[in-house]
Amino acid sequence: MIVVRTVSDLRAALRGRRGGSIGLVPTMGALHEGHATLLRAARSADDTVVMTIFVNPAQFNEQSDLAAYPRTEDADLALAEAEGVDVVFAPDASEVYPDGFATTVSVSGPIAETLEGAERGRAHFDGVATVVTKLLLAALPDHAYFGAKDAQQVAVIRRFVADLGIPVTLVVCPTSRDADGLARSSRNTRLSPDERARALAIPRALTAVTDAAAAGVRRSDALRERALDVLAEALIQLEYVAFVDPETFAPVSSVDRPTLVAIAARVGATRLIDNAVIPPV
Ligand code: PAJ
Repeated sequence: MIVVRTVSDLRAALRGRRGGSIGLVPTMGALHEGHATLLRAARSADDTVVMTIFVNPAQFNEQSDLAAYPRTEDADLALAEAEGVDVVFAPDASEVYPDGFATTVSVSGPIAETLEGAERGRAHFDGVATVVTKLLLAALPDHAYFGAKDAQQVAVIRRFVADLGIPVTLVVCPTSRDADGLARSSRNTRLSPDERARALAIPRALTAVTDAAAAGVRRSDALRERALDVLAEALIQLEYVAFVDPETFAPVSSVDRPTLVAIAARVGATRLIDNAVIPPV
């Protein structure tokens, strides 16, 4: 495994590997088992696996949050090596955003402006879209791997990849969960045992919704009530339970086509998101 810090070194490392397929796994480091599932998917499908580690300042709306983001590069490199990554691209901010940088990739509409876009501010998905565009152009991979846990991020990336005609196939990996059902996240380590027990109401609420939908409940309002019943018992601060089209994030009032149910909530000081897709009948 080699570690490179500049785009020109990344391109040099990939030059001799373009005869086979290249898979790109973008991350902000602080790797956990959820990231490892993406690395494994890439390892099993691609000849060369490139992982990026870059804590992207442009997608943080608060400087304090950026400063507090865990940086665990030694452990991340060890995990990458164990998962068979070939090349790690871990640039400094000045490599990604050199002096004079003045371009933003910005997706508009509900896809980027509602839910996480509203909660974290417009700049969040602009920051994600801009950095992912740069990473895709730096590596020019055949496949790029993202987690379904960040469903709105996937929808934003899908949109600008199609709109800009970036020649890459996106691979969306299922949300990786702990045995108790909680979606894996680097933020989970901040939960006290009591908070963690309460956080389990989130995956339980998603299951209540998908079960009710499978049993024939179609109205989003009625399905939302099922979720709220489960969440109310858990003393968590709910931000939203939303029923949306998985591609456009337009609201869905009746789930007669594949619908994403997305939940965001604070448990103590920790903000958690999770989602599930309700299949059509
Ligand atoms: P980060 O939060 O490090 O996540 C990197 C990738 O891992 C994302 O595609 C995310 O959806 C995926 N992931 C995280 N937890 C997961 C889980 N429990 N199951 C499956 N996949 C999971 O998302 C980002 O970084 C950044 O926004 C990035 C795309 C790198 C752009 O800066």
